[in-house]
Amino acid sequence: MNPTRTLTGQPGPYAQDVFANDRNPAPEVMRLEAPALDLGDEDVSIDRYISRGWHEREVEKVWRKTWQLACRVEEIPSVGDHVLYEIVNDSLIVVRSSPTEIKAYINACLHRGTQLRKTGGSVKQFRCPFHGWTWNLEGRLTDLPGAWDFPHVDQKKACLPEAKVGVWAGFVFVNFDPDCEPLESYLEILPDHFRAFALEDRYKAVHVAKVMPCNWKLALEAFNETYHVHYVHPQVLSYNDDKNTQYDVWPGVRHVSRMISLQGIVSPSLPNISPETTIAHIRRDAPFFAGKPIEVPPGGSARGALADRAREKLSRSTGRDMSKVSDTEAVDLIEYLLFPNMMPWGGYSLPLCYRFRPYGDDHERCIMEIMFLFAKNPDGSHPEPAAIHWLGEDEPWSNATELGSAAMLVDQDTDNLMRIQRGLRATRKPGVTLSRYQESRVRHFNQTLDAYMSA
Ligand code: FES
Ligand SMILES: [Fe+2]
Repeated sequence: MNPTRTLTGQPGPYAQDVFANDRNPAPEVMRLEAPALDLGDEDVSIDRYISRGWHEREVEKVWRKTWQLACRVEEIPSVGDHVLYEIVNDSLIVVRSSPTEIKAYINACLHRGTQLRKTGGSVKQFRCPFHGWTWNLEGRLTDLPGAWDFPHVDQKKACLPEAKVGVWAGFVFVNFDPDCEPLESYLEILPDHFRAFALEDRYKAVHVAKVMPCNWKLALEAFNETYHVHYVHPQVLSYNDDKNTQYDVWPGVRHVSRMISLQGIVSPSLPNISPETTIAHIRRDAPFFAGKPIEVPPGGSARGALADRAREKLSRSTGRDMSKVSDTEAVDLIEYLLFPNMMPWGGYSLPLCYRFRPYGDDHERCIMEIMFLFAKNPDGSHPEPAAIHWLGEDEPWSNATELGSAAMLVDQDTDNLMRIQRGLRATRKPGVTLSRYQESRVRHFNQTLDAYMSA
């Protein structure tokens, strides 16, 4: 038994024991369980959620130092295609500058500072709308109207300043720090873990964004544990084992953590649920399992029957043979965090990716985005990647019907987030208290944050 469990007394059955009884065995990466790690039990200071000074330091120490998800490669397939990546007051034009290269330019004219692009799109060059200074896709100044009047500007040197760019698994990352560590080492164990999930073979099919009434870290942290599920999402307890989630924080790994939340298994807090009820309830909430009836064969389990249905559906929707997909990848919620603000999911049941960041310069509101990454066609073709569907600040996530079952859950979380932000302003307690195991990812995230803030 993993000593972590001895420490915390999770009721069981544990994720790894469930996997051992699954019909299709879990891949190696899902059989990994981080060893018990003593991250301490100190309260986490609340100034990080409410203080303006913290936010301003965070810009310098986190947003201008870390690798951040800017877009997907399939959003900028042709030379000249670009998106904007905006973080607090910083803005980058992330552009495909050649068939094999992506660049990220600071989105400001070198004459008098005008924003070069207001939106993404496709261009042959970047022409400033104010006096027409123009840069090519390589970032070189190619036209300076009335150049005779600027003998003091060296046109060869007036290139658009760049941020670093890296690509992994079809995601484009940017980093403002010219001396940053390479993306490859920053990602730590993530590429190894995602080899099985091959996100480079997916495309962004859904993208919904909404301004949330809280600091970005509060929103992010709400998706790092299932300790809150009992009170916030009680409807899922008949098919989601909230009490036996596996939380992985690996020794020496700074930027990545994981949780595996078991589906098709009843929460120990509801002792008398039949497999039929489990199936009926997940079908009620998750359109993925809708359709013709799902029978539990004699001696079978709800989890097994759901995994079979998932494999069947995945084979149909992808045009590939998905009959070998493991039960855990077919039904469980497999969520990773990449510091600071990206949460890519593994497996197939909810092929999600979340991103969180401050809403402009407002540290008490944030932008939360939910993306779905669906499999490309077997020949590599795919529909147009989704444009961002922006919800109004007072609009519920469930207005975005493309989110399916994820929307109701996030709406339930959203109600709490405003209350947390307000509560933290009112409290006299200097820190928030975290559990040792179930909130270990929240603690680990904050310890990494503290390390960056004090660097
Ligand atoms: S500000 Fe851009 S050309 Fe003048
Ligand atoms: Fe939640």
